[in-house]
Amino acid sequence: MAKVLRNLCLALALAAPAGVAVAESHIDPAIQGAITARQSHMRLYAHNLGIVGAMAQGNAEYDAERASAAASNILALSQLMQGSYWAPGSDNASVEGTRALPAIWANIPDVIEKAEALTAAAEGLAANAGTDLASLQSALGAVGGACGACHRAYRQSN
Ligand code: HEC
Repeated sequence: MAKVLRNLCLALALAAPAGVAVAESHIDPAIQGAITARQSHMRLYAHNLGIVGAMAQGNAEYDAERASAAASNILALSQLMQGSYWAPGSDNASVEGTRALPAIWANIPDVIEKAEALTAAAEGLAANAGTDLASLQSALGAVGGACGACHRAYRQSN
C-alpha cells in the first residue's frame, strides 16, 4: 500500500510540471510577464477608481482621506514608466490572454498622448478629491473619460 502511494505521488509530481509546461509553452515568458504586468497595473487603476466612483455615485459615504488616497494612487500609477509592459508581439493577434489590439504598436505617439491625458486628468482628481464630494464628482469625469478613450481605441471590446 505504502509503495503504491509512493508511486502515485511520484507520478503526480512528474505529471504536474509537465502539464504546466504544455499549457504555457506557446507564450514566451517575457511576453507573458509583460501582459500580466500591464493587466495588473490596469486592475490597480480600477480598484482605486472604484473607491472614488462609489463615493461620487452615492454608493459609499464620502470620506476625504480615502478619496485623496485613491486619487493619489491613480496619479502615481499614471506616472510610472510603462514602456516595458507593451512588448512588441504581445498584442491579441499574436498571443492569447490579452485584449491589447495590434493598433497600439502602429500608433505609439497617440497611445502616449492618451496615457498623458490620463495623467492630466488624474492631477485634477488628486487636487480635488479631498476637498468635498462636489469637487470629487466634477474632477472624476475626466479620469473616466481618459480611461475610456484609450480602451475604445486600443482594447478589444467584449
Ligand atoms: C493608454 C491606454 C490606456 C489607458 C489610459 C487605460 N487603459 Fe485600461 N487597458 C488598456 C489596454 C490596452 C488594456 C488591455 C490589456 C491587455 O489585456 O493586455 C486595458 C485593460 C484594462 C482592464 C482589464 C485588465 C485585465 O485584467 O484584463 C481594466 C480593468 C482597465 N484597463 C482599467 C483602466 C482604468 C480604470 C483606467 C483609467 C484610470 C485605464 N484602464 C486606463 C489601455 C489603457
